[in-house]
Amino acid sequence: MVIMVTGGTGFIGSFLAKELINSTSEEVILYDFIINEKRIASIKDNPRVIIIKGDVSNWAEVNSQFEKFDEIATIYHFGSLMPPLTESELTNAFNVNIQGTFNILECARLFNIPQVIYSSSGAIYGPEVELPVTEHSYRDPWTMYGVGKVCSEVLGSFYHRRKGVKFTSIRFPALIGPGRTGKGMTIFANNIIQYPAQGEKAICNVEEDIAVPLIYIKDSIKFLVGLHNHEDIPEHTYNIDGVWVEAKELASFVRQEIPDALIEYDPDDELTFMLRSWSMMKGESNAILDDLGYTPSYTPEEMVKDFIAEVRTNDEYKI
Ligand SMILES: NC(=O)c1ccc[n+]([C@@H]2O[C@H](COP(=O)([O-])OP(=O)(O)OC[C@H]3O[C@@H](n4cnc5c(N)ncnc54)[C@H](O)[C@@H]3O)[C@@H](O)[C@H]2O)c1
Repeated sequence: MVIMVTGGTGFIGSFLAKELINSTSEEVILYDFIINEKRIASIKDNPRVIIIKGDVSNWAEVNSQFEKFDEIATIYHFGSLMPPLTESELTNAFNVNIQGTFNILECARLFNIPQVIYSSSGAIYGPEVELPVTEHSYRDPWTMYGVGKVCSEVLGSFYHRRKGVKFTSIRFPALIGPGRTGKGMTIFANNIIQYPAQGEKAICNVEEDIAVPLIYIKDSIKFLVGLHNHEDIPEHTYNIDGVWVEAKELASFVRQEIPDALIEYDPDDELTFMLRSWSMMKGESNAILDDLGYTPSYTPEEMVKDFIAEVRTNDEYKI
C-alpha cells in the first residue's frame, strides 16, 4: 500500500514520513510545493520514499499525480500556507488552504482512497469562544488561517458523511520540536529551545509570562501513524489540548540543560496581545483519549531535554 503526505517535507510532515518509513512497510509519497531536502536527508534515498514536487491548489496537477498511483490507502493532508503569510496573502491562503483541501478530498473520492487525515488547529476558535473549549464549541475564527481550517473541516465532514471518504481532523495546539522554522504565533516557544541548543542566542518576541498550549512533536507522530488504517474512529474531529507552559518556564528548563543559555526578551506588543487573549482558551476534552487512546508521554521538562539532545546530535535538526 501507499501513503501520501502532503506538505511531506515540512516540519510535521517530515517527522511523520520518517516514522512511517521506520514503523510500517508502506511506500510513502511526499507531496510538497517546496522540497526541504535537509529535513528528509535520512530517508530521501530509501526506495520506499517517492518525492513529488507539486502544488495542492492546482487541480490539474493534483489529479494527474493521483492517476499514477492506484494503491493509496491514506492521505495525510498537511500541506498548508502558514501564518503570518495567510493573513497578508489572502488569495494564496484561499487557494492553498481551502481549494487545496477540496482538491485532495475530491481526488480521494474519484480514486477510491479510503482515508484522509487532516491537520487542523485551535485557530478555528475565536477570542469569543465559550469556555471550556471542546470539540463542539462554536468555530468562529478571526484569522484567514483559522477560516481555512474551518472550511477544510466542513468539506471533510461532507466527504465523510456523503462521499465515502473517511475523514479525521486533528486540531493541534502548538507543536514544537527540533528544526521547526517559520514565523507563526507560537514559534517563540520553539526558538527558546532551538537556538541555545545550537549555541546561539534566542530572542523571545513575547513577554515572559505568555503561556501557550504545547505538545512535543514526538508525542504526536506515533499517534498520527496509528490513525492510518485505524478501523474505528468514532468522530471526525478531535482536539488535542496540550500543556500550558509560560515562556519563562521553558527558558528555565533550557537553563537546567544549558546554564549559560542566552535568552533575550524583545516583546512584540501585537503578538503579546493576541496570545494573551488566546491564553484564555483552555480546553476540556477527553475524546481523543477515550476514543483513540492519545496520551502524551513527555513532560515539558523532558521535552526540552530531548529536544536539545536531538539538535546537538543530528544535523537534520539544525536551522
Ligand atoms: N506546527 C504547529 O504548531 C501546527 C499547529 C496546528 C496545526 N498545524 C498544521 O499542521 C500542518 C503542517 O504544519 P507544519 O508546522 O509542518 O508547517 P510547515 O510550514 O513546516 O509545513 C507545511 C508544508 O506545506 C507545504 N506547502 C505549502 N504550500 C503548498 C502547496 N501549495 N502545495 C503543497 N504543499 C504546500 C510547505 O512547503 C511545507 O513543507 C499545517 O496544516 C498546519 O496548519 C501545525
